[in-house]
Amino acid sequence: MAKPAAVIFDAYGTLFDVHSVVEAGRAVTSDPAALSMLWRQKQLEYTWLRTLMGRYEDFWAVTESALHFALRRLDIAASEAEIARLMEAYLSLATFPEVTRAFAALAGTPLGILSNGSPRMLMAAVSSSGLEGKLAHVLSVDAVRAYKPTPAVYELGPRAFRAHAREILFVSSNAWDVAGAKAFGYRTCWCNRAQMPMDNLGAEPDLEVTRLDEIPAKLS
Ligand code: LAC
Repeated sequence: MAKPAAVIFDAYGTLFDVHSVVEAGRAVTSDPAALSMLWRQKQLEYTWLRTLMGRYEDFWAVTESALHFALRRLDIAASEAEIARLMEAYLSLATFPEVTRAFAALAGTPLGILSNGSPRMLMAAVSSSGLEGKLAHVLSVDAVRAYKPTPAVYELGPRAFRAHAREILFVSSNAWDVAGAKAFGYRTCWCNRAQMPMDNLGAEPDLEVTRLDEIPAKLS
């Protein structure tokens, strides 16, 4: 693929491992992986449903509502302090191990994040992961008060980078996010870590990798 004018990354699940909350979950349940899965699934559902309903709340509020649902559904009793600790885990998620190497190999190309995360959550995750200073733009959907895959969200990228979407490479490990970005007009890369089949949404990725550090070699 020809070298893009910029590379924009999705945040949660792509740069930051949302399932690193499993550690925090151990304090409240013997099956923290089940809690983490249901929490994430409900968090995404709530972003889609709230956008369809025209009832935006920021990602912190959505994430907290999803956590309360997951705890109730799995019959887990958690104190206010334990819930606060689970939420705080979101502010210092682990980055996937290859992120630093991928960013270093992409040096010279402007990099950014475009995410559902609220500005405060993104700032915290970026600074705790040491990615500060490596990103030209950290863009939050909060600017348009709607969630991915609404086109208005993807439009934030070309506007910030002053480039056409077709000149920008959008990278996500969330297949539905890749489809949304592709439908909007980006060049897209799906980081398919779990080797899953692509979602059937009529928008195939231009590139597919299993790790982010495979991307630089694919750009000429
Ligand atoms: C994000 C969601 C898709 O960071 O994980 O936007």
